[in-house]
Amino acid sequence: MTDFRSVFGAAPDGVWAAPGRVNLIGEHTDYNDGFVLPIALPHTAKATVRRRDDDLLRLYSEQGDGRVTEVGPAGLTPGGVTGWAAYPAAVVWALREAGHPVGGLDVHIDSDVPTGAGLSSSAALECVLAAACDGLYGLGLAPAELALIAQRAENTFVGVPCGVMDQMASLCCAEGGALFLDTRDLTQRQVPLDLAGQGLRLLVVDTRVKHDLGDGAYARLRAGCERAAALLGLPALRDLPLAALDGALARLPAELRPLVRHVVTEDARVEQAVALLDAGDLAGLGPILSAGHASLRDDFGVSCPETDLAVAAAVDAGALGARMTGGGFGGSVVALVAEAGAEQVAKAVGAAFAAAGHAEPGLFTALPSAGARRLA
Ligand code: GLA
Repeated sequence: MTDFRSVFGAAPDGVWAAPGRVNLIGEHTDYNDGFVLPIALPHTAKATVRRRDDDLLRLYSEQGDGRVTEVGPAGLTPGGVTGWAAYPAAVVWALREAGHPVGGLDVHIDSDVPTGAGLSSSAALECVLAAACDGLYGLGLAPAELALIAQRAENTFVGVPCGVMDQMASLCCAEGGALFLDTRDLTQRQVPLDLAGQGLRLLVVDTRVKHDLGDGAYARLRAGCERAAALLGLPALRDLPLAALDGALARLPAELRPLVRHVVTEDARVEQAVALLDAGDLAGLGPILSAGHASLRDDFGVSCPETDLAVAAAVDAGALGARMTGGGFGGSVVALVAEAGAEQVAKAVGAAFAAAGHAEPGLFTALPSAGARRLA
């Protein structure tokens, strides 16, 4: 363990935290202008930060290789910083690009958001820097504005064409609720999610299969969705109503049909989920989660044997529903379980992984937690 003072030899100006997220439903809808419903995790990236009098960025991570990464203004260009340091550096770059007066910083990062688990450890890193810069340099930006800056940082500096869900979740979620977000205009509403009050729990299974959105598959899926929308003469797939789905599918090349079917039905699932939560029927979410997983597996093609196994084992052991969460190609599964049966579901998933010869999965309960905030 190190602390800011032992790395940088001076006292910090402040400490910020930004969480990872679990998306309940609404996967691969954000870059189609659609709906999402994430919660923030109790796991956060923490940044202890001090302003510098020059333009230098010095970055240290408790989870890194023990070295300080120094980035001068000349090195702060897309592609110029790699590894974990690219995410915080990208945010400083994006803020300066947008004309905000952000100078040099010493930054000590300590994150307990599992990496490569589809739980937005990268967005947590970006958003904690965005919040810290906003606070330290008095930028006065709203959380949604910071989310757009962080998304631009990831798109342009890091080179991942992600949507805006993860950054919005990390910056805008509130404790005890899920964030119902329209990714087209960023209108949002906190939907209360009193799981404990209904004897329920959200169990997260990290399959330990490292997901990586940078490998091109995500970009190809996004491009496929955009091509389908263009062929249909729509601004985005969000503009295709569920009732018009079948007719639209008939007008598309075969390879694009499953993508469109997933996106359109997934947007409908988010709206159904929100209606159920508003009506206080949290258990009703279960079948929606499972239907979402089937759609991601069979139509969108982003699940993998380990996520499929975790979902099947959880449901067989009594979960009300389960699905992979996040971009896919590995990562985590979220299962809705009754408190009383949670232990049994966790054990069953562990046993199924052992029997299949997979590495032991990580398991934890996800409590809907607060978005980015200043700690000190
Ligand atoms: C990743 C991206 C998000 C979103 C999800 C899929 O997490 O960063 O923008 O597209 O995948 O829903």
